[in-house]
Amino acid sequence: MRNSGWLGRGVMAAGALCVLATGLQGCGESTVAGASSAQQQEVLRGRYLVTAVGDCAGCHSSGKDPNDPMWLAGYTQGTPGQPFEIGTFKTYPANLTPDPDTGLGKWSTQQLFNALRTGKDPEGHYLCPPMPWPTFRNMTDADLNAVVAYLRSIKPVSNAVPPSEGPNPYPDGHGDWSSAYAGLQPLPAYPAATEGTPATGTTPSEVQHGRYLVTAVGDCGGCHGGANPSDPKWLAGYTDGTPGQPFLIGPFKVYPANLTSDKNTGLGNWTQNDIVNALKTGKDPEGHYLCPPMPWPTFRNMTDSDLDAIAAYLRSLKPVSNAVPPSEGPNPYPDGHGDWSSAYADLQPLPPYPAANEVFVP
Ligand code: HEC
Ligand code: HEC
Repeated sequence: MRNSGWLGRGVMAAGALCVLATGLQGCGESTVAGASSAQQQEVLRGRYLVTAVGDCAGCHSSGKDPNDPMWLAGYTQGTPGQPFEIGTFKTYPANLTPDPDTGLGKWSTQQLFNALRTGKDPEGHYLCPPMPWPTFRNMTDADLNAVVAYLRSIKPVSNAVPPSEGPNPYPDGHGDWSSAYAGLQPLPAYPAATEGTPATGTTPSEVQHGRYLVTAVGDCGGCHGGANPSDPKWLAGYTDGTPGQPFLIGPFKVYPANLTSDKNTGLGNWTQNDIVNALKTGKDPEGHYLCPPMPWPTFRNMTDSDLDAIAAYLRSLKPVSNAVPPSEGPNPYPDGHGDWSSAYADLQPLPPYPAANEVFVP
């Protein structure tokens, strides 16, 4: 599903752990005139899903955080790795702000909800890859409504994004990507073929909560492989022939890791803390920064309980032996893994809510 240049994804999204255990409230959170507390909680839950798990900004924003004037305003010329090139077609991440002319200002709440649940815009066109709606459609109604409420509450930004290309364009120029989704299956019931028993020290409810975050919001499979947990390649990492992989970042090739519990080629020797730390600090147990476009700068904003749930889920996966080549990068360590610390030098904590581009509209 994922195709082509990802430089910038994740690297641009910024944040810190200021979200309380419920995932509903930001640090330094303040009240907004005219908003009921239920509306406000919904917006804050949406902000959490957008800035900590779903990584919308990794594609939709040349602005790095909600203080940035281009927050979620879509493709801008010069964004590294964009537009996405899928075969001969170029696709452009849309302006998600409520600007009426260049963003989603004319979409109703229901139209926005439907786009994320069914992958279709109000004209009935399928959204182009690599928009991960096949993952987002698995969110609960409440979570999808929260994402929609958040998007409707941010500041409108005027930024015209070119129409995405695709096969057999409609009269308005938007490509018809329905064929890309022809084989799409519903999320299989738990446990699917690749899902084993919870690892020691983890509970079935943690594992299932982690499964939700992975399969409905975090879109780990979009890079780490497999259509869903019934797929024998589920989260087993890069395999030869995956479209758009390895990711090319300048002269370097980067390969999504095997996240299954295989001891030799996956995370089988990583502890629960090793996995949580990697997602929270971006560093593997050897202290190397994970290469872009792994979106840890977004994932680090998750609550500890959500990070623990994801780690519990990964540890419950059955081992799949699949050796992934080491990712390249500048100044490689003796083991060959590139040193990407410079990519994260400017990373800032997520600003408290409401940031400059977050204006609540009740
Ligand atoms: C991997 C990149 C990527 C990520 C991550 C991503 N999107 Fe998208 N999104 C796209 C692209 C590309 C398009 C343009 C599709 C098209 O032109 O049909 C798009 C289109 C959309 C649209 C349709 C807008 C329109 O004007 O047609 C919505 C709504 C949307 N995205 C919401 C989101 C939300 C919410 C998130 C995070 C929860 C998100 N996206 C994450 C790439 C992404
Ligand atoms: C945009 C693509 C992308 C997405 C989405 C993504 N990852 Fe990654 N991830 C990567 C790449 C590329 C690497 C390899 C980085 C490296 O070699 O340093 C990686 C590495 C990792 C590692 C380190 C493994 C190791 O052996 O070093 C973990 C753990 C991980 N990802 C977990 C996740 C989880 C959990 C999710 C979903 C919540 C996720 N990733 C989503 C691209 C992605």
